[in-house]
Amino acid sequence: MALNTITLLQPDDWHAHLRDGLALKRTAPDLARQFARAICMPNTVPPVKTVAEAIAYRERILAHVPEGIAFDPRMVLYLTDQTPVSEVKKIKDSAHVNAVKLYPAGATTNSDNGVSDIRKVYAVIEQLEEHQVPFLLHGEVTHSHVDIFDREKRFLDEVLAPLLKQFPKLKLVLEHITTSEAAHFVIEQDRNVAATITPQHLLFNRNDMLVGGIKPHFYCLPILKRQTHQQTLLEVATSSNPKFFLGTDSAPHSKDAKENACGCAGCYSAPTAIELYAQAFDQVGKIERLEGFASHFGADFYGLPRNTNSITLVKEPQVIPTSLDYLDGEKIIPLYAGQTIQWRKV
Ligand code: NCD
Ligand code: ZN
Repeated sequence: MALNTITLLQPDDWHAHLRDGLALKRTAPDLARQFARAICMPNTVPPVKTVAEAIAYRERILAHVPEGIAFDPRMVLYLTDQTPVSEVKKIKDSAHVNAVKLYPAGATTNSDNGVSDIRKVYAVIEQLEEHQVPFLLHGEVTHSHVDIFDREKRFLDEVLAPLLKQFPKLKLVLEHITTSEAAHFVIEQDRNVAATITPQHLLFNRNDMLVGGIKPHFYCLPILKRQTHQQTLLEVATSSNPKFFLGTDSAPHSKDAKENACGCAGCYSAPTAIELYAQAFDQVGKIERLEGFASHFGADFYGLPRNTNSITLVKEPQVIPTSLDYLDGEKIIPLYAGQTIQWRKV
């Protein structure tokens, strides 16, 4: 029987970009209205590199959460070639910081301070394994000669497999996976390896971005792949395998920065994220599998308690706004702007 109403524990977003300063006026309320907790990515300008900086950033986020809404930002440190080994113990002892993020230098938005060669940070990674602090990876190689559509697969072979050989107990999340190779890689590892999946990689493929004209609002990194990969991602996300959980990668860029001769990478999905996932799960007849993916598996992986309050989604058409206010007088075009989706959060 087709379900028209579902109630689920309030979901968490295990991968979100809130930016800083004025941007928080937009991003913090949008995220807090959907999720109980979010992993707040550290690729701000400048990046969040220490526990002390993460705590200060968390306070700036909390200052923009609307009255009466409970929201718990979970913080992450940006790994650089210079991150001191001693920072890992501080994370372990912190009530608010949960993980360390690897950006290969040059891989994506604000990754210039990222790691130039992962072997340079093996001493920090050893501590992450020792203290079981999650290591979050942007899984793409960055060599200019590697085709953009092959960068995730090459990362599995050239970086991730050797890394796990060296540190087999490392708690690791391969973020925003986009290929069947990444999905299968994750399935084949032990329980210490998991992955997040975005709404855009479940709902769209590279044809949506490139056929009939370039659609810059579908451009994100890792880039949308061909439809067969989209199908595998849908299969694993809806499989009730606890290794796969929700991470929107919601990443705001102003309309002008996206609709540009050199457009920025990132899709903004925060205001209707859970409905977009509901749409994807329902399209493959698996709406009843949404709760595990959205509300159980991420918390379990991070060793945090599951939420206790619930949300309800109804199957009713909802039009995604054509644009949203951002910064001082700028706009954001959200993912799927102006289109109708079939679910609405009440
Ligand atoms: C993200 C951003 O804009 O910060 N962009 C994106 O395309 N996903 C960075 C990232 O997660 O790669
Ligand atoms: Zn991201």
